Amino acid sequence: MEKGVVRYGIVGVGMMGREHMVNLAHLRTDGAVVTCVADPHPPSLDLAVELARSLDSPLLAVFSDHHQLLDSRLCDVVVVSSPNMTHFEILMDIINHQKPHHVLVEKPLCTSVEDCKKVVNAANQRPDIVVQVGLEYRYIPSVAKLIGIVKSGMLGQVKMVAIREHRFPFLVKVNNWNRFNVNTGGTLVEKCCHFFDLMRLFAAANPVRVMASGSIDVNHKDEIYDGKVPDIIDNAFVIVEFDNGSRGMLDLCMFAEGSKNEQEISVVGDIGKGEAFVPESIIRVGLRAEGRTGVKTEKAEDERIKYDGLHHGSSYLEHMHLLSMLKGERLGAPAVRLTDGLLSVAIGVAAQLSIEKGRFIAIQEVLQE
Ligand SMILES: NC(=O)c1ccc[n+]([C@@H]2O[C@H](COP(=O)([O-])OP(=O)(O)OC[C@H]3O[C@@H](n4cnc5c(N)ncnc54)[C@H](O)[C@@H]3O)[C@@H](O)[C@H]2O)c1
Repeated sequence: MEKGVVRYGIVGVGMMGREHMVNLAHLRTDGAVVTCVADPHPPSLDLAVELARSLDSPLLAVFSDHHQLLDSRLCDVVVVSSPNMTHFEILMDIINHQKPHHVLVEKPLCTSVEDCKKVVNAANQRPDIVVQVGLEYRYIPSVAKLIGIVKSGMLGQVKMVAIREHRFPFLVKVNNWNRFNVNTGGTLVEKCCHFFDLMRLFAAANPVRVMASGSIDVNHKDEIYDGKVPDIIDNAFVIVEFDNGSRGMLDLCMFAEGSKNEQEISVVGDIGKGEAFVPESIIRVGLRAEGRTGVKTEKAEDERIKYDGLHHGSSYLEHMHLLSMLKGERLGAPAVRLTDGLLSVAIGVAAQLSIEKGRFIAIQEVLQE
């Protein structure tokens, strides 16, 4: 390997895989180079080849499956951006491969707690590889700024974290994999693992039990695939109780195109309150002692971001951090660890189960699956 160069292979080059290719192209001067991709869907491969050319970074090889990519020895890092239900098998194959490959796996880590646990255990046997989970919302500039404020202690002891995501319906995906719980893990795993991860960060605590209410009320009702109507919920309220007494609440609506912001986050401590708004990219912070007139509004920006892409620059920063770690510039554990991936899935699984059973679900119940 050329000194300072880190070679990437991408498994799954649909929307998100190609987004990773563009992000990595913006890190070329830092040493990132995408050498190969793998995908069983020829139109996705064609789009990836074309994209690589347009980025002036032609691929050395394209493969129809990940085994060939791993055996090629053409890459040192594998980005797993295939559909959720494929993550488990692909991760296990990477981790058990003779050649060490570092990994960035898209969220959710896997679609079940059981599979996540197997991946965590297998990765623990491979100290020579780094596995980072793609919970990139942590890096969205307004969210990152709010995390910094909360960590500074300015708001006091965090008591309540409320996250509202009001957005458009799920997009159309290759072979419509995202229309069914069996493939995604369920909406509260697939999409909301991001928010459960943020709740854990803001609360600085681990979940104890989860209560949720949700259903499929508006979207996808007129769609049929192989005779089946989609079963993914499109709205929910989820309450999460944490082991330090703080509480989280998620308000998800996926037929809310008429919203100014897609995410609104509010964190309230015993001294003050902080809010982040995406994509407005502003934060608001106020202290109880200063009241409404003391609330300050600030724009959140991160000058390191060279490409905003689909997620407000967060994918760029995610890659930037991982790359600097792999180049030995930053030591320690990956920024988003496998246990973060596991717990974000566990809260989502508990929330899905709570809807099904109509009761609180203890996290231990799903962790002991
Ligand atoms: N971080 C985020 O905010 C974010 C956003 C969107 C998607 N995602 C995640 O990225 C992943 C991909 O989602 P997408 O939106 O790109 O979907 P997509 O349908 O656009 O692309 C998935 C691609 O993977 C390919 N594929 C299917 N099975 C495969 C296999 N066994 N090996 C290799 N490739 C395979 C498909 O042919 C397709 O080209 C999912 O896990 C999704 O949850 C994350």
